Amino acid sequence: MTTAAPSEHRPRHIAIVMDGNGRWAKARHRPRSFGHNAGRKAVREVIEACLRERVPVLTLFAFSSENWRRPQEEVGALMTLFVRALDKEVDELSAHGVRLRFIGDLTAFDQPLRERMHAAMQATAANAQLQVNVAVNYGGRWDIAQACRQLAQAVVDGHLQLQDIDEARIDQGLTLAGQPELDLLIRTGGEYRLSNFLLWQAAYAELYFTDTLWPDFDQACLQRAIADFVHRERRFGCTGEQVATSD
Ligand code: FPP
Repeated sequence: MTTAAPSEHRPRHIAIVMDGNGRWAKARHRPRSFGHNAGRKAVREVIEACLRERVPVLTLFAFSSENWRRPQEEVGALMTLFVRALDKEVDELSAHGVRLRFIGDLTAFDQPLRERMHAAMQATAANAQLQVNVAVNYGGRWDIAQACRQLAQAVVDGHLQLQDIDEARIDQGLTLAGQPELDLLIRTGGEYRLSNFLLWQAAYAELYFTDTLWPDFDQACLQRAIADFVHRERRFGCTGEQVATSD
């Protein structure tokens, strides 16, 4: 039995794999796009909850680099949804102090959507209440690979020595560089995997899985996940006794 006290710390960075839209729609005999639309409301719910709970960073997995394999119709519906969400929500998000950031390989998106993403990032750049990172065409392996490519280029250019490449340097090249460490990684929809999301950052994150389908995930659900996190003991490789005496 461990004697260490549970962590009293509130999460500073929460990430979510928003899964279950398709099944939610299927249960209602509706197309998958209906589920994605409902999922948009759940995004609003968690943003509101993070603002209320004073969580400074929220990272959402909206579209993985593997999601292009879905039927063309579904990919098209998701793109339309992203454009509509940007057109409708950015002003209100900004009024609440939300800073939006898109992470992933944005070059794959068509010009109008890319422009909207860049405009939303610019328009909200000065906000500091809540940072919302939206991962689109994102993969954790891609993120690590692009960081390594930058370092390799620096070596080739003579700005960096091979022996200076370490974890901190790779970290600095990742798309979430400079943001607080990931504390809590949530996955909805009853699956137990990371699906290539934030692989590097998940190293010491607390994982929280729930059967709730994403469109049903509301503010109370997020509060339950945070309450669960607060009672976890985070050891970072130490023993429970060491953690207890360092508090
Ligand atoms: C996974 O559910 C969900 C997605 C691939 C898309 C996520 C998109 C949203 C929640 C839309 C709103 C987002 C923003 C940022 C405006 P799934 O389709 O894999 O569900 P299934 O496992 O039940 O099939």
